[in-house]
Amino acid sequence: MKVMVLNGGPRRKGNSSILSGEFIRGIMETNPEAEVEEIICERANVGFCRGCLQCNSKGHCVLKNDDWADISRRILDADILVMVSPVYFRAIASPLKKFIDRFRAFFYVRITEDGSTHDPYEEWKKDWVAILSYGSSAMDEADPVKEFFEMTMELFGPKNTLHTIIGRRLARVGHVTSTAEELKPLYEMLKIPEEWTHEDAQRNGELMASAYDLGKKLTESRGKKE
Ligand SMILES: Cc1cc2nc3c(=O)[nH]c(=O)nc-3n(C[C@H](O)[C@H](O)[C@H](O)COP(=O)(O)O)c2cc1C
Repeated sequence: MKVMVLNGGPRRKGNSSILSGEFIRGIMETNPEAEVEEIICERANVGFCRGCLQCNSKGHCVLKNDDWADISRRILDADILVMVSPVYFRAIASPLKKFIDRFRAFFYVRITEDGSTHDPYEEWKKDWVAILSYGSSAMDEADPVKEFFEMTMELFGPKNTLHTIIGRRLARVGHVTSTAEELKPLYEMLKIPEEWTHEDAQRNGELMASAYDLGKKLTESRGKKE
């Protein structure tokens, strides 16, 4: 089983990265032979899509001055595609968006009378996992991001499934793994009520467990032989 993680956040120990680590732990403890690769989007030698649209006639991206050809092959080969990002202005962080714009070269697009059709050059049959964290208390803060992933995934056909792990009211590095006691000085500094610390520490613990469980569940459902 092959897993590709595209990590779009700038904080290596940020909350979305920690949740991603827990998801991967769930995979590895279920199938130690799973092949997991993580790409830190901002460090990768991958440029912006130039919008040349030659992918529509050539069937692949024509840009030659970066590592996209290799990386895109590994994305295509993955069974599970994990996209990790903080929520920035109710959208994904730009290093990940840069990668997803390059996904344009994965399909042929035809403009129709009332819209457009997308035909992937290769069959896509993946579990897509979006792992997100944001600072607000609002339950719907990441809805535009979820919609973005749903819309993008649908272009790759009905054999793909989206799963989400989304943490709210997470601000500082390490927040998601902090105990109620550890959250107290942070909440004082952030000027938010101290009485939220217990509820938040418990919710964060449950979120970490759900990330682990999702890794385990997806691995089990694909079978150890893959
Ligand atoms: C540029 C920027 C934009 C942000 N925009 C939002 C936002 O729209 N909504 C929100 O709830 N939090 C927002 N935040 C807070 C982050 O989403 C939050 O700190 C998150 O936990 C960061 O994820 P990380 O810990 O994985 O880096 C923003 C933070 C930054 C730096």
